[in-house]
Amino acid sequence: MERGELLRWLTEDRDEALRELWLRADTVRRDTVGDEVHLRGLIEISNRCVRQCWYCGIRAGNAALTRYRMTADEVIEGAQAAASLGYGTVVLQGGEDPGLTREWVSDVVARIKADLPLSVALSLGERSTRELATWRRAGADRYLLRFETSNAALFARIHPPGTDSAVRDRIGLLRELKDLGYEVGSGSMVGIPGQSIADIAEDILLYRDLDLDMIGVGPFIPHPATPLGGTLALSGEGQAPATELMTYKVLALARVCCPRANIPSTSALATLNLREGRELGLMRGANVLMPNLTPLRYRVHYEIYPAKACIRETAQQCHACMQHRIRSIGRHIGHGAGSATQRSFGAGVPAPGRLPFAGSQHRHVPTLKPGPPRREKSS
Ligand code: 5AD
Ligand code: FES
Repeated sequence: MERGELLRWLTEDRDEALRELWLRADTVRRDTVGDEVHLRGLIEISNRCVRQCWYCGIRAGNAALTRYRMTADEVIEGAQAAASLGYGTVVLQGGEDPGLTREWVSDVVARIKADLPLSVALSLGERSTRELATWRRAGADRYLLRFETSNAALFARIHPPGTDSAVRDRIGLLRELKDLGYEVGSGSMVGIPGQSIADIAEDILLYRDLDLDMIGVGPFIPHPATPLGGTLALSGEGQAPATELMTYKVLALARVCCPRANIPSTSALATLNLREGRELGLMRGANVLMPNLTPLRYRVHYEIYPAKACIRETAQQCHACMQHRIRSIGRHIGHGAGSATQRSFGAGVPAPGRLPFAGSQHRHVPTLKPGPPRREKSS
């Protein structure tokens, strides 16, 4: 799909036309990554951050926020919970926090890899090559770093360098991560003030160009304690809307353009539509959910944007809720790491004995019918 067609879809608003896009994305999703929905346990290990991103609620300048950094043992406990809930991956996410030192992160990763059957993804911001290389050697499998917007001037404006951090070439960093052997995840926000619909088409082309293993996309949600919080001063004609609908379009187009990528149905999307945002994301291209495993006492302080979904549910509640949502749309939970690089074609066929949820509304999912009554053997 090329720029012109992307733009046509991004500006299409007729329901019946969009149904074709949803169907196309869902078909590509089923034929390439299958009906499995992979669960990645998210642990928000620190909300300390040296950066001043204009969009992000945990920016250094937000003095009202209670700051925390989890202990190594707390992170390990979270990883144990992920493993016991059957997740294949744990994601350790945090602000750009120098207190998460090279040695500390390296130790935590090594402990998880030594004791638990988990793939480890890190999402700790722009870190030095030395740190990234050390963490990779310690066993980290994946790194997530969204480029946020492919519009370089807009990115530079909303993502100023921290006090002692130099401006880094974010796209170059993503390529570096790949060279280090990480599976690389990136992505963008939809509807940043100053972002045009043409910018969004470029974002999707960049996902493909970077050959991403994972693509995270969510709507921009203003946070009052940030420069982009109250005002849409930068918005104007051609402004991309930060809506649920625009986010579904981007998800669907990402799936069509990057068929084998892992694409989460994000919490930001669920925040716009608590009732069925996650399901609609899964039905329009996504194949991953990220249940939150951060201890509740910390989770409320990881407020990147306000009214975040799943902020008060325990790990077990979140798990049960996601399991229910997955089943309600005729899909099933994936097992193992769910790596995009190790995936082979034809993943859409369920493994023997792993029939999808019975009674689903999905067109191609067989329903389980009771077999003929068994004759009891009398002895
Ligand atoms: N609204 C939506 N998403 C946001 N993120 C940061 N701030 C916001 C916001 N206000 C996203 C960014 C970041 C990810 C961790 O959260 O894309 O990479
Ligand atoms: Fe820390 Fe944005 S201010 S990630």
